[in-house]
Amino acid sequence: MQSRRIGDVQVSAIGLGGMPMSIEGRPDEDRSIRTIHAALDAGVTLIDTADAYHIGADEVGHNESLIARALASYGGDTSGVLVATKGGHLRPGDGSWTIDGSPDHLRQACEASLKRLGVDAIGLYQHHRPDPRVPYADSIGAIRDLLDAGKIRMAGISNANPEQIRQAQEILGGRLVSVQNQFSPAFRSSEPELELCTELGIAFLPWSPLGGIRAAGELGGAFAHVAERYGVSPQRVCLAWHLAKSPVSIPIPGASRPETITDSTAADTLHLTADDLAELP
Ligand SMILES: NC(=O)c1ccc[n+]([C@@H]2O[C@H](COP(=O)([O-])OP(=O)(O)OC[C@H]3O[C@@H](n4cnc5c(N)ncnc54)[C@H](OP(=O)(O)O)[C@@H]3O)[C@@H](O)[C@H]2O)c1
Repeated sequence: MQSRRIGDVQVSAIGLGGMPMSIEGRPDEDRSIRTIHAALDAGVTLIDTADAYHIGADEVGHNESLIARALASYGGDTSGVLVATKGGHLRPGDGSWTIDGSPDHLRQACEASLKRLGVDAIGLYQHHRPDPRVPYADSIGAIRDLLDAGKIRMAGISNANPEQIRQAQEILGGRLVSVQNQFSPAFRSSEPELELCTELGIAFLPWSPLGGIRAAGELGGAFAHVAERYGVSPQRVCLAWHLAKSPVSIPIPGASRPETITDSTAADTLHLTADDLAELP
């Protein structure tokens, strides 16, 4: 698969989003492991996760543990796989998502993620979401301290606006490597962040790149039309569209079945023409 850059690390241009394998509607462990192994077979070297990808309050880090087990049981070499996790969100177990961006929480969350992933340093640690009760500088300051302490190798942010991207870049002393924001054909409001990342050479990881777990199957309209022309899935066209948007764009489609991630990774070889792109809204 073609590669793109996150900081000084080359990763596959299409990553795997782990969330559908750990939240509501998740499959059994066997299918999840097969899904992650199918991604690795296809050349995926970026897996996105978070400590908050779980359901019950007593299973924090479900997705991180799952990914660690899948990597350990894979037959091939996984040394080049970048696992990107996040801290700053919590799930109390009632289906809701809460936020804690306090430096204390981020420090503790990072320690717990290190243990679950079974590594000395986390490849990419992303601040999950700004906490309105905590100054952004304090949250990002905690991420900087983790970087300085060698607990994390690279630092990213998520759900940030352009001002926060610039602020984080300053606090991290120019070491911000990625921004992960919602972006898909159905959700365009992160266009300014994508443009800023392109300008600054920071990786942009569109989340819910297909429109989200519930809507991903409904990609229709122009995407379905172009897909028909090439005899491929509309989802594959959508991911190729993401790749064509910017050289810093690295979509992380979620999957809970081997077939879907295998199909998605083939977007890498689908070259959309200028006419195709003009047709896509
Ligand atoms: N930073 C944040 O705040 C944040 C928020 C949400 C998500 N995320 C990250 O972004 C990742 C992706 O977002 P998402 O999972 O919400 O939504 P998504 O990637 O837009 O959609 C995921 C769904 O798309 C289906 N799918 C994937 N490839 C397909 C294909 N080629 N053909 C048909 N269906 C396909 C999958 O179905 P199957 O389940 O049947 O395989 C999956 O359930 C997440 O997994 C997570 O890592 C981050």
